[in-house]
Amino acid sequence: MKIIIINGPNLNLLGKREPEIYGSATFEDYYKKLQEKFPKVEFTYFQSNIEGELIGKIQEVGFSYDGIVLNAAAYTHTSVGIGDAIKAVTTPVVEVHISNTHKREAYRHVSYISPVAKGVILGFGLQSYDLAIQSFL
Ligand code: DQA
Repeated sequence: MKIIIINGPNLNLLGKREPEIYGSATFEDYYKKLQEKFPKVEFTYFQSNIEGELIGKIQEVGFSYDGIVLNAAAYTHTSVGIGDAIKAVTTPVVEVHISNTHKREAYRHVSYISPVAKGVILGFGLQSYDLAIQSFL
């Protein structure tokens, strides 16, 4: 089973960025644990702060991978382009957020990903990614 985790803007700063919201673990440390926890999954990880690179990656893997776990971060709330890319490919996408975006500012209540995602998991910290992986197994 081939699964890619795609993280959007500012998620390269996990561990340093607003730890009261996003926690103090780096994604790299968490990713190592995730790989140990799901040894049968062939993982790929991609992070970009650039919308077009996220779209390019979805197009690149979206006809051959078994699943995409996508935290589009701030682009969740703005990107018609990422939503269209998800619609264009055949690989199912699970939308993930570390924080419960519905508890936060009103502009974070809108998602261009949710209507085209297989499912949405949010608010469980980094464990949201575990739950998304499990949904594909
Ligand atoms: C986030 C929530 C978004 O609103 C925010 O812009 C992020 C991270 C989350 O994982 O909680 O960068 O996607």
